[in-house]
Amino acid sequence: MISRKSEREITLMHEAGKLLASTHKEIAKMMKPGITTMEIDQFVEKYLAKHGATAEQKGYQGYPYATCASINDEICHGFPRNEPLEEGDIVTIDMVVKLNGALADSAWSYAVGEIDDEKQRLLNVTKTSLYKGIEQAVPGNRVGDIGHAIQSYVEGESFSVVREFTGHGIGESMHEEPSILHYGLPGKGPRLKEGMVITIEPMVNGGAWQSKMDDNGWTARTIDGELSAQYEHTIAITKEGPKILTEQE
Ligand code: MF3
Ligand code: CO
Repeated sequence: MISRKSEREITLMHEAGKLLASTHKEIAKMMKPGITTMEIDQFVEKYLAKHGATAEQKGYQGYPYATCASINDEICHGFPRNEPLEEGDIVTIDMVVKLNGALADSAWSYAVGEIDDEKQRLLNVTKTSLYKGIEQAVPGNRVGDIGHAIQSYVEGESFSVVREFTGHGIGESMHEEPSILHYGLPGKGPRLKEGMVITIEPMVNGGAWQSKMDDNGWTARTIDGELSAQYEHTIAITKEGPKILTEQE
C-alpha cells in the first residue's frame, strides 16, 4: 500500500523540511578544514532541540547518531567521527527531522575548503541528477521515469549510480513504500499519484557503482575506493507538480 497524504499532513512535513533545510544551511557555514563530523552531529542535535524537533535517525534500527556523515569513498550511513575534516574532502550529511510528529529527509554533499575540478564535477552532476529525477515526480508518471532520468544523465557524464540504496516513500515512518530506484526504465514501476510523498536521493560514484559494507554493519563505501556523492530531497507529488519540502531557499 502506498499511502497518500492530506494537505495538512504535507504542510506539517513541509514545516519539518524547512527546519531541515535551515539546518543544512547552518552546516554549510561550518564546513571548513579542521571541523569534525562529530561536532556537526552534536550541533544538529542541539539546533533541532532548540527548534522543538528531534533527529529521527538516532536510535532508528539501532543507528547511533543524529546524522550520517559519509566522507570521500563512503557512499552512505557513515558514522560521525572525531577526526578533523581535511581540505579537499567531500562529505555528505544526511538526516531525518521530526517536527510536530511529521518527518522530512534530506542529504547534502559539501566540499571542505578547495576541491579539484573533477570532485566539483561529481558534486554538480549528482545535484543536477537529483533535480532531473524531481522533474519526473508528477502524477501519472511511474517510478521508473525518475530512475531513468537520473541514470541516463549520470552515465552520460561517465559516473555511475549506486543500486543497493534507494529513495523511499516517507510519512508516519521514515521508510514507506514505494522504493525509488535511481536507475531503471521509463514507464515501469508503480504509478505516482497526487498526495504521495517520496524521497529522491541519488548516490553517484566516480568509479564503479558497486559498494562494500564496513565492519560496523552500516557504512557503505565504494568497492574501488573512488569518491561518492549524494543529494536528497523529500518531495510531495501534487497536481501543480513536484513540491520540494526540503528546498534550501
Ligand atoms: N536518511 C536516510 C535515508 O535517506 C536513512 C538513514 S538510515 C538511518 O533513507 F538508520 F541511519 F537512519
Ligand atoms: Co536521508
